Amino acid sequence: METEYIKLDSASPDPEVIGRAGDILKRGGLVAFPTETVYGLGGDALNTEAARKIYEAKGRPSNNPLIVHIADMEHLEAIAAEIPEKARKLAAVWWPGPLTMIFNKKDIVPDATSGGLPTVAVRMPNHPIALELIRAAGGYIAAPSANTSGRPSPTIAEHVREDLDGKIDMILDGGEVRIGLESTIVDFTDEIPMLLRPGYINMEKLEEILGEVLIDPAILDENASRNIRPKAPGMMYRHYAPKAQLTIVEGGEKEVVDRILELAAQSSREGKSVGIIAADETAEFYKDYDVKNIGSRETDKEIARRLFRVLREFDDEGTDVILSESFETPRMGQAIMNRLLKAAGHRVICV
Ligand code: TXA
Ligand code: MG
Repeated sequence: METEYIKLDSASPDPEVIGRAGDILKRGGLVAFPTETVYGLGGDALNTEAARKIYEAKGRPSNNPLIVHIADMEHLEAIAAEIPEKARKLAAVWWPGPLTMIFNKKDIVPDATSGGLPTVAVRMPNHPIALELIRAAGGYIAAPSANTSGRPSPTIAEHVREDLDGKIDMILDGGEVRIGLESTIVDFTDEIPMLLRPGYINMEKLEEILGEVLIDPAILDENASRNIRPKAPGMMYRHYAPKAQLTIVEGGEKEVVDRILELAAQSSREGKSVGIIAADETAEFYKDYDVKNIGSRETDKEIARRLFRVLREFDDEGTDVILSESFETPRMGQAIMNRLLKAAGHRVICV
């Protein structure tokens, strides 16, 4: 299959292109598109055959459900069986935005989309291309991140091309995404809402609106996630993994720098190519190595946005060993470390 690649203006996408992409989706085809979090691989969420194609293009297990993307509140009523008051309050603040909510589903949502679960994940993304495409496609786009299963999620269209060229109908290029980590997922199918995947909207922000919020124990104790089955099936899989062996070094600033330099020297002596992931504040200490500066700990937005991109860059360079600082920043630290720990297969050295 030839994949059509089209650049679009994110602020005001060409309606002719959006119309054509919408038609592809209506006919059961696949279109990758930007959202504010990461690029998504879209198919008609109400079409079993389209969902099947998504799993195949990504190489994703078909019991790992897809998020249904909508552009208008009425469309939520059509697919969710009950919408608790708290979920409406959260949507009023954060939709469109980097928030996915889980509800009991109505029958109109096919089992292929929900991975056989009785529930459905729904998100209204905050991106003009995504919103207009959803409307052009008839209202419901199932879209996992547009990467090959197991690889870091795409934050630029070129990443999508690397993974899915020749496997899907169209890629819409809207430039680099704004957030860079996938949406926060909150489950509303029990009495008390539960965080299933941390993201840009952190616990503090959720609690401001919802009061008590539980956290899926599989997130909190990352090591235990091998024993505790996470409620979001996708959180169980090896994810975001670069080809290199990635190790996180955690601790006080000086101790971390010293240990990373020591490990880097050791790997170099063994003839391995070494890459280092460091914050603005400490990057200069590693200047003898291939260091990628991921952003400042002060703002942490850049760290979130650059993380997946940096992991892919090391893949492109054929790096053997990656050593990363730890980024337990106050704002998005939980989301950043959740992804980084998965990418490292939980290989962490505490100093
Ligand atoms: O930011 C995002 O959410 C991006 C963009 C494209 O919107 N999408 C995304 O989709 O990250 P994906 O498929 O890569 O991750 C969806 C996660 C998976 O961990 C999946 O298991 C979980 O959501 N999920 C989907 N439906 C669920 C359900 N009914 N119950 C629990 N978890 C669910
Ligand atoms: Mg994904």
